[in-house]
Amino acid sequence: MIKPIIAYGNPVLRKVAEDIDKTYPEIQTLIDDMFETMYASDGVGLAAPQIGLSIRLFVIDAEAFVEDYPEAKGFRKAFINPHVIETNGEEWLFNEGCLSFPGIHEDVSRPANVTLKYLDENFVEHTETFTGICARVVQHEYDHLDGKCFIDHLSPLKRRMLQRRLNAISEGKVHPKYKIKFFKK
Ligand code: NI
Repeated sequence: MIKPIIAYGNPVLRKVAEDIDKTYPEIQTLIDDMFETMYASDGVGLAAPQIGLSIRLFVIDAEAFVEDYPEAKGFRKAFINPHVIETNGEEWLFNEGCLSFPGIHEDVSRPANVTLKYLDENFVEHTETFTGICARVVQHEYDHLDGKCFIDHLSPLKRRMLQRRLNAISEGKVHPKYKIKFFKK
């Protein structure tokens, strides 16, 4: 089932999300729904807070990048309870967007590599290092679980320049092609 994407301005995007355990109800359905929602909005990643759930879960399918970034081949995965062990390597810039920020794309600098501990959809633990575009998408989605968004990585000047457009999003004045839920007081 396709879920509406939570737009910037909703406090759920600013909460630190909680680990879950095997008793979490219908986790496989939730993961399937997150992939379906992500594909319906042409995203390459989606974190649970973006559908209003403050739990440590995100899904990624980076195959769309494969032409420019061969490491993206077959990179389709759900991450449960991910925790970063380390990031390293040289920072590089990439033009990022986010389904919770329709229409905004900005260059963001992030380290080249990230090592994560996480559970797969069968609750089997993995420790894995991601590089290149895979590390990029993982770090973007992971930020959502810590209540961070990609705009937090921009300079104060850049953010000031975006302020009107950010306000427009939080006020529900943008119209993306996908289902979105604006925050209303
Ligand atoms: Ni995002």
